[in-house]
Amino acid sequence: YVIGIDLGTSAVKALLVDRDGTVAAEASRSYPLFHERSGWSEQRADDWVEGTLEAIAELVSGIDASSVEGISFSGQMHGLVLLDQAGNPVRNAILWNDTRTTEQCREIEHTLGDKLLSVTRNPALEGFTLPKILWVRQYEPDAFNQAVSFLLPKDYVRYRLTGQLHMDYSDAAGTLMLDVAGKEWSQDVLEAFGLPASFCPPLVESHGFVGSLLPEAAAKAGLSELTKVFAGGADNACGAIGSGILSEGLTLCSIGTSGVILSYENDESSDYKGKVHFFNHGKEDAFYAMGVTLAAGYSLSWFKKTFAPTESFDQLLDGVGEVKPGAGGLLFTPYLVGERTPHADSAIRASFIGVDGSHERIHFARAVMEGITFSLNESVDMLRSAGKSVEKIVSIGGGAQNPVWLQMQANIFDATVVSLENEQGPGLGAAMLAAYGCGWFESLEACSERFVKYASEYTPEPEAVQTYRELFGIYQQVYGQTKGLN
Ligand code: XUL
Repeated sequence: YVIGIDLGTSAVKALLVDRDGTVAAEASRSYPLFHERSGWSEQRADDWVEGTLEAIAELVSGIDASSVEGISFSGQMHGLVLLDQAGNPVRNAILWNDTRTTEQCREIEHTLGDKLLSVTRNPALEGFTLPKILWVRQYEPDAFNQAVSFLLPKDYVRYRLTGQLHMDYSDAAGTLMLDVAGKEWSQDVLEAFGLPASFCPPLVESHGFVGSLLPEAAAKAGLSELTKVFAGGADNACGAIGSGILSEGLTLCSIGTSGVILSYENDESSDYKGKVHFFNHGKEDAFYAMGVTLAAGYSLSWFKKTFAPTESFDQLLDGVGEVKPGAGGLLFTPYLVGERTPHADSAIRASFIGVDGSHERIHFARAVMEGITFSLNESVDMLRSAGKSVEKIVSIGGGAQNPVWLQMQANIFDATVVSLENEQGPGLGAAMLAAYGCGWFESLEACSERFVKYASEYTPEPEAVQTYRELFGIYQQVYGQTKGLN
């Protein structure tokens, strides 16, 4: 077996996977989020470690520990764990969804100028790691002065399990301190902010072997000390690996609470001018471009909670396929908590437009699904306008549970959409990194052929494609027209 750990924001999920890619067992543990002030989001790094060890112990309770050959990790991106000389966190971790660092983002833009995009390939966003480091230095100098290095969430867990400090390229790419194309810590960025090179951990490939389990960690997890530990990757990179997004022409659409359009990039040559994120993949020397819709599945959950609190999603969406594309003229923009791609605007809010006296709740439900998909199509559109071909989209998450939604995605994206059998998300990607690292396969692609099983395929329907193309033009105008409303 191998184990894939998916260290998420609300819980850690562990998967036990056999040589055929079948998930033999899974276990999870949740941990608290702390919102001490509005916009703040923190976790205790040691809660992740305890949760992970407990989840593994449950996972392997019925099997012979020596049958687990390797373990690897997928992690929530960007979160800052500052470590003191003894390797202990100097304060709580500040997470990806914490927005306190607007001032530091402006400072980064001002200080780095053009280098920000040419070196880090990304804009300065509140969620990323460098702004968090600068915030702690400015507002908590005592804590900062104790810090000698930093890690990202899953790297901290792995450090506690192995005693080794490492970071992989896919996660390091989200710090704003990595030269993404050159695959090294950027001296320019470190010098510009007076950070010593020793502050940054050694970089490794996601499938890279980083050590064995410490005796104490092995005992707590119920694993053998011989279990090999591999670095792992960012959750989006691992989600892509677990969905087989390992070659040019393949794109991922993931609709969870937030939504992601992620396209595979064979090299660093695409230039999206910072409009979408550009990060290193978990596959060696590959990259991915990614656009994010903040309130994707969240928009539908909000709609259900508000207008159908006692019903299931199936009941809410019953009959949604009978409403024609365009929801009878009703249009929804999903900006319930602001937007990231393409507008990077935390103040914008959502809207329903075109309400008619004949509309029923089902029209609103369909409009919400269409609005979420239009927002994701903005990311597809940006990839295409930069010359990228988006031919085949693998759809995962809540958005892939409903056949009407999958067909809608094919029609709005004007691309073939496929769903997965027994979808397992980033945890499977982590397990695949361990399987490849253990030498079970000669490449991640070979592993994917065995582990990732495609299910139904949806092709675009010309008439609906045309209807949606016209509506998308109107959808795109709503942002500018509603910007000043609140
Ligand atoms: C990516 C991002 C989120 C986190 C969630 O830039 O902020 O997808 O990785 O875990």
